[in-house]
Amino acid sequence: MSENPILVTGATGKSGSRVAARLRAAGLPVRAASRGGEHTFDWADGRTWDSALEGVRAAYLVQVDGTRFVRPFVERAVRHGVRRLVLASGRGIDDPDYANDPGGVRDALLDSEAAVRESGLEWTISRPGWFAQNFSEGFFAEAVAAGELRLPGGDGAVSFVDAEDIAAVVVAALTEAGHSGQIYELSGPEALTLAEAVAAISTAAGREIRYVPLSVEDFVAEQVAQGIPAPEAAGFADVLEPLRNGTDAHVSDGVQRALGREPRTFAEFARSTAAAGGWSV
Ligand SMILES: NC(=O)c1ccc[n+]([C@@H]2O[C@H](COP(=O)([O-])OP(=O)(O)OC[C@H]3O[C@@H](n4cnc5c(N)ncnc54)[C@H](OP(=O)(O)O)[C@@H]3O)[C@@H](O)[C@H]2O)c1
Repeated sequence: MSENPILVTGATGKSGSRVAARLRAAGLPVRAASRGGEHTFDWADGRTWDSALEGVRAAYLVQVDGTRFVRPFVERAVRHGVRRLVLASGRGIDDPDYANDPGGVRDALLDSEAAVRESGLEWTISRPGWFAQNFSEGFFAEAVAAGELRLPGGDGAVSFVDAEDIAAVVVAALTEAGHSGQIYELSGPEALTLAEAVAAISTAAGREIRYVPLSVEDFVAEQVAQGIPAPEAAGFADVLEPLRNGTDAHVSDGVQRALGREPRTFAEFARSTAAAGGWSV
């Protein structure tokens, strides 16, 4: 059984790529799946599901926000004899006041969590807060690299979590005993405002990077002027609401519970990313 591969979906993304790398570093066979990755897999195309699940012993599920593919995929996984599932979810999904959610992301994630819990398989749910890697690989990366991050983030603070810690927790849940039935809420060790986070990146990268707080109206107007459709710009402003209002400032203990150690600080994330060539001009 230990020779059977572990399926990693979202394997080209921020958490999945690190999960796959850590499993491989441990000498474990990995099926790295996504639309454009090593093993072709598309949540929206059920014809790709069986080859992803064939012979797999455990799977990390990174879903596409607002979709409902996890429940039927879990049923398929049961039929394939998969024994263990780890689901990527998100902090705040059990709080109806967490954020505006016109896209139904929250309800879809709750349904995915329920599907995994009801599967009869061993399951673990990872609920990370905002990733530190949003500054280096995600939403904010381009602006940060260009030296100015203009967002409607106010001066709310967020306990950004390093995707390396997320991946370490997911790998532990995929490979070790003792994590079944656990929901791990994951954050960094402290909350930082966007200004503080950008200052830490400036220090690590050795060049000036600024955060410019915008009102939601100004942000949407700027995005529209750059050719982004207004509903998309407004949707992005909604996504940033927990950041503005400090809903994501609290610190969670999932890294400590799963790994028995403290999470990495934002400064550590910034230093290691800069040392690896991130944010270089
Ligand atoms: N970013 C954050 O701060 C944050 C915080 C909390 C929770 N989350 C949650 O974490 C999840 C995203 O995780 P992530 O940041 O690790 O991923 P990510 O970096 O956004 O990457 C998404 C991955 O999904 C794959 N993908 C996209 N569409 C697909 C499709 N139709 N079929 C199969 N694969 C598809 C992509 O690869 P291909 O393009 O090759 O298919 C990629 O590997 C989301 O559910 C998000 O809500 C994110």
